[in-house]
Amino acid sequence: MKKYLVIGNPIEHSLSPQLHNYWLKKNNINAVYDKKKLNSDDLKDLIFKVKSKEISGINITVPFKKEVISYLDKLTFDAEATQSVNTILLVNDNIIGHNTDISGFKSAIKDTKYNFVGKKILILGAGGVVPSIIFALYKMKVSSITLTNRTKIKAEYLQNFYNSDTIEKNGWNKIKVVDWGEVPEFDMIINATSVGLNNNDNLDQDFSKIGKNKFFYDVIYNPKETNFLKKGKDLGNKTENGKKMFIFQAAEAFKIWHDIKPKIDDEVIKLLD
Ligand code: ATR
Repeated sequence: MKKYLVIGNPIEHSLSPQLHNYWLKKNNINAVYDKKKLNSDDLKDLIFKVKSKEISGINITVPFKKEVISYLDKLTFDAEATQSVNTILLVNDNIIGHNTDISGFKSAIKDTKYNFVGKKILILGAGGVVPSIIFALYKMKVSSITLTNRTKIKAEYLQNFYNSDTIEKNGWNKIKVVDWGEVPEFDMIINATSVGLNNNDNLDQDFSKIGKNKFFYDVIYNPKETNFLKKGKDLGNKTENGKKMFIFQAAEAFKIWHDIKPKIDDEVIKLLD
């Protein structure tokens, strides 16, 4: 039986096994998908189990999306451009790193029918998924991206990473960074921090002067409605949680591994409630 895994730290919260095992069963694939909490020291050995064919594929989550790259043989264009990998597999004895967070985010946003062209985006956070969100947003032709993170240097690192080659080559507007707590003008705000995972978590930002018709997006999907989304909704704005992004990135990984596009229907969506 083929074996698949999601690795990260923490990993308890991950719903990837539920989703992948459901699709494996639906598609009569003789395989199992598990989760494993890992320490950095064990990363290399585990990745080599893909080379030795003990494991057929691995999803990588926080905090290993960048670190894993040093143990891979090849990266796809998206993984290379973001220096972020969330899906690996073996092809002709090479371990290949993919990034399905980018298309996951893009598909999720398309699904909301929101038109990104020319929009000003404010991103809260600078962790594991932010490089992919930035890349997806630029591809969707937003007009500007501003980052803010409690630890400013992490936002500045991402700013420098993208403001060099990638941005100039593509003619994109440079990323801006503002202090944590500052709220510059935006059309869409994305919470990519882990604040909200606990029901009583609250962000410090003051949204009282942001104006109307904004889009509040939270990468978190459990809980379904974070205080950030609640606040956005109470102020009369459009809101969306990260559930679809999670499902779409998983579907893309499933397609890469099994060459089958899994069905995303109401049953799948309910599975994660
Ligand atoms: P990682 O940073 O290991 O990639 P992550 O879950 O992807 O993990 O990212 C966590 C994000 O939530 C970070 O941007 C983090 O900010 P710091 O870089 O300052 O740690 C942010 N975060 C976590 N707790 C926070 C809090 N209480 N207030 C504000 N931001 C917080």
